[in-house]
Amino acid sequence: MRIILFSGKGGVGKTTLSAATGYKLSELGYKTIVVSLDPAHSLADAFDLSEEERFSAKGLPIKINENLYIQEIDIQEEIDRYWGDVYRFLELLFNTTGLDEVLAEELAILPGMEEVTSLLYVNKYYKEKEFDALILDLPPTGESLRFVSMPSVLRWYMKKIFKTERLVMKVARPVVGRLTDVPLPDENYFKALENFYSRLKGVDEILINPEITSVRLVSNPEKMVLKESQRAFMYFTLFGVNVDAIIVNKVIPSNTGDCDFLKSWINVQKRYIEEIENYFYPVPLFKVPLLEEEVCGKEKLKILSDLVYKDRNPYSVFFKEKAYEILQEGQGYLIKIKAPFLSKEKVSLLKGEEEIVVRVGNFKSHILLPRKLRNLEPKGAKVEGGYIYVRLG
Ligand SMILES: Nc1ncnc2c1ncn2[C@@H]1O[C@H](COP(=O)(O)OP(=O)(O)OP(=O)(O)O)[C@@H](O)[C@H]1O
Ligand SMILES: [Mg+2]
Repeated sequence: MRIILFSGKGGVGKTTLSAATGYKLSELGYKTIVVSLDPAHSLADAFDLSEEERFSAKGLPIKINENLYIQEIDIQEEIDRYWGDVYRFLELLFNTTGLDEVLAEELAILPGMEEVTSLLYVNKYYKEKEFDALILDLPPTGESLRFVSMPSVLRWYMKKIFKTERLVMKVARPVVGRLTDVPLPDENYFKALENFYSRLKGVDEILINPEITSVRLVSNPEKMVLKESQRAFMYFTLFGVNVDAIIVNKVIPSNTGDCDFLKSWINVQKRYIEEIENYFYPVPLFKVPLLEEEVCGKEKLKILSDLVYKDRNPYSVFFKEKAYEILQEGQGYLIKIKAPFLSKEKVSLLKGEEEIVVRVGNFKSHILLPRKLRNLEPKGAKVEGGYIYVRLG
């Protein structure tokens, strides 16, 4: 199975390109599902579906043709289906702490719940093997990064919560329960957590397997978008998720006639396209023209998909290179992490029992260490030629 993630800044064309890619794959005979995490639900718009069709789907897959399904995840429906006990506890907690009901309900949707839910779907579809391809239309970059970091965060959290929180609850519930009005989570809360965690098992390995998962990073030839694409590229790389193409969308065609206004835009875009070529080399760059109008309905999606992929098969892995490698160096080891655009002062290292944490700004990546390396200590890091080298000895 292939899993293709579309990520990028808000409004660059992620949903449209997810839809176009799904459409092309279905035409080539691959049974495909396009899943969107976007609460604005523009995936159904891209296929020009009616409100009724969307509404009656209740967040489950909608059939587009023999080979193509789309699914717009509805977080409230998901919570009702799978998260009942966790959700009810949090709602109760927020309620008891004096918040009004509406706000309590809103807050009970934990940050990251959308991402976790879509990870559950990735795992489900991967294991069920019903589809040949899963396309995931991710929310704008920040949340996309939360999506890929979620498995390692959860692993950490589950380890802690089950070792400590549950133990504390066993001891504390009889005592604290009598003394305070603040509710304590009951066994169902933990069971629900455990259950969903078991359904997530293995998803991190799927995400970092370049034969299965690719990110196609969508960008526009604009300064701010380019900056964000660079950052996203680095973080995906740090998390070990393979970026197999950069799609530069909304490029104004150069044959638009003799309009000074457009000419000036074309020049500006040209400059940024050159920069993009330099920054992301050797990852292949797909340039996609701005169409005359917005991309709505199957015919336009088909036109767009041909412009994106030409005679290439979207199912292919267009590029793959190891995100990090572990090299032997004298008595110790060197972890070589591919990290373009990184400047030295932003990197910090933290060694845990089984992993090393490389932190860059607000994000961090946990690199699980092979057993052999777990007793070694970090001896320093250097940044050179687009790689971070971490010495362990
Ligand atoms: N190549 C193109 N030519 C013309 N219009 C385009 C092109 N690509 C995307 N669009 C239009 O741009 C708008 C934004 O695209 P889209 O919704 O796919 O972006 P997005 O990245 O998913 O946005 P969001 O971050 O809000 O989810 C849509 O109206 C879409 O039809
Ligand atoms: Mg979108």
